[in-house]
Amino acid sequence: MVMREKELVEIIYRRRSIRRYEKRPVPDDVLNAVLEAGRLAPSASNLQPWHFIVVREPEIKRKLIFSTWNRFIDEAPIVIVGCGEADKKWAAIDVAIALENMVIAAEALGLGSCWIGHFREEEVKKALRIPGHLRVVAMITLGYPAERPRAPPKKKLEEILHYDGF
Ligand SMILES: Cc1cc2nc3c(=O)[nH]c(=O)nc-3n(C[C@H](O)[C@H](O)[C@H](O)COP(=O)(O)O)c2cc1C
Repeated sequence: MVMREKELVEIIYRRRSIRRYEKRPVPDDVLNAVLEAGRLAPSASNLQPWHFIVVREPEIKRKLIFSTWNRFIDEAPIVIVGCGEADKKWAAIDVAIALENMVIAAEALGLGSCWIGHFREEEVKKALRIPGHLRVVAMITLGYPAERPRAPPKKKLEEILHYDGF
């Protein structure tokens, strides 16, 4: 995969959250390329305080659904659950960065993804047998997109940007 810097920025600009997916499975080499982007993410003191659980079994995936906010998990061929070591100060941020790396890599590889912050941590931990020293930070769905959502409104730079002080 050869990519110019400009293309990477365009990929970041065009990414949308995808909640509808084709049934087509994601080949292992494509999934591994996404996971690799997470593995290589920066982390505080390079501690890499993370574990990622790839969920593909429909029966297990279904256990992660608890409301309309994450019902589309059912349709997504893959869910990646990002966990952080509870005793590491920056673990949640580290895991979020790694997941976002995966989201961008997924877009570059023709996949769609969506962050999921709506979940019940204890139920997820039980369903996936996640040990007590880990927190579930977030999940992302992955799969070939079956929708092209319009860009939602985003704040203008002038509204959020400050130079040399607020
Ligand atoms: C931390 C986080 C949690 C999110 N949780 C959910 C969720 O539980 N369900 C959902 O449908 N979308 C979720 N989203 C996706 C957002 O709704 C989406 O990013 C936002 O509407 C902007 O759209 P865009 O991603 O296409 O730019 C989440 C996004 C983030 C960053």
